[in-house]
Amino acid sequence: MIEEDSYIVTSKHYDASYTAKTNLVDIPFYLPLAEEDGGPVLEIGCGTGRILLPIARKGISITGVDQSRSMLSVLEANLAEEEESVRSKVNLQVGDMRNLDLQEKFSLAIIPFRPFQHMHTMEDQLAALASVKRHLANDGRLVLDMFFPKFDKAFSGIGEEFLELSWENDDGDKIERYFRKDSISKVNLSFTGAMIYRTYRNGKLILEEENELTMTFFTYPQMLALFKLSSLEIVNTYGSFDKRTLDDSSPEMIFEVKSVA
Ligand SMILES: C[S@@+](CC[C@H](N)C(=O)[O-])C[C@H]1O[C@@H](n2cnc3c(N)ncnc32)[C@H](O)[C@@H]1O
Repeated sequence: MIEEDSYIVTSKHYDASYTAKTNLVDIPFYLPLAEEDGGPVLEIGCGTGRILLPIARKGISITGVDQSRSMLSVLEANLAEEEESVRSKVNLQVGDMRNLDLQEKFSLAIIPFRPFQHMHTMEDQLAALASVKRHLANDGRLVLDMFFPKFDKAFSGIGEEFLELSWENDDGDKIERYFRKDSISKVNLSFTGAMIYRTYRNGKLILEEENELTMTFFTYPQMLALFKLSSLEIVNTYGSFDKRTLDDSSPEMIFEVKSVA
């Protein structure tokens, strides 16, 4: 079952906003992984192709799956701009990571830039890991990232708006992206909130759009338990995309896992 598209507004602004976010440095992490592996690669939650396209440009076959038709539409438009040699490497599917049935196995599966944080219950988390595992070839690896919770800030700031990013669109309008946290569940370690996109022309607000989102965050021991329950063993753990050791100051939690032999 494909659930409701929760990225409709965000998909319109996704590529421009993450071009503006210069501290997002995950491509130099995922691209060498794919190159060393050689593929075929499975990207789950591929979105608009921010990671998928650089991999395909290296001549590596990649299947991209995403639940959001709006994100995949942007990716299709992006793909149409690419050379045939790149397009021929890409296979796209609408799908839910909890119940994939792609009839293909992959030596590398990746879930980059937090799609796993859209898994809000233990049932969903285990279903997603089982579903990806079914698509791993012998000795195939799964690599996924999530943010390392900032415990000092995680449970505060409800109702406050933060300006996160700003950029100019092709019409010369200024777009500002704000984030507002609306609720927090300490029980489930999740929050609801909204990305707010405000478009200004000549300094005047001409459009305001909101995209609600829910995200779950994970503790390290919780991930260890989820992997154990899924019969996945950890090959590597990192605390940042430049592969620093996970510690209390880490910005990310990144795991490379494979099926228990
Ligand atoms: C923050 S975006 C990341 C996109 C891309 N991987 C990147 O690095 O830019 C998260 C993506 O996960 C997708 N997603 C959320 N839940 C999903 C699910 N259950 N199955 C597949 N994709 C899902 C969203 O539609 C969205 O495109």
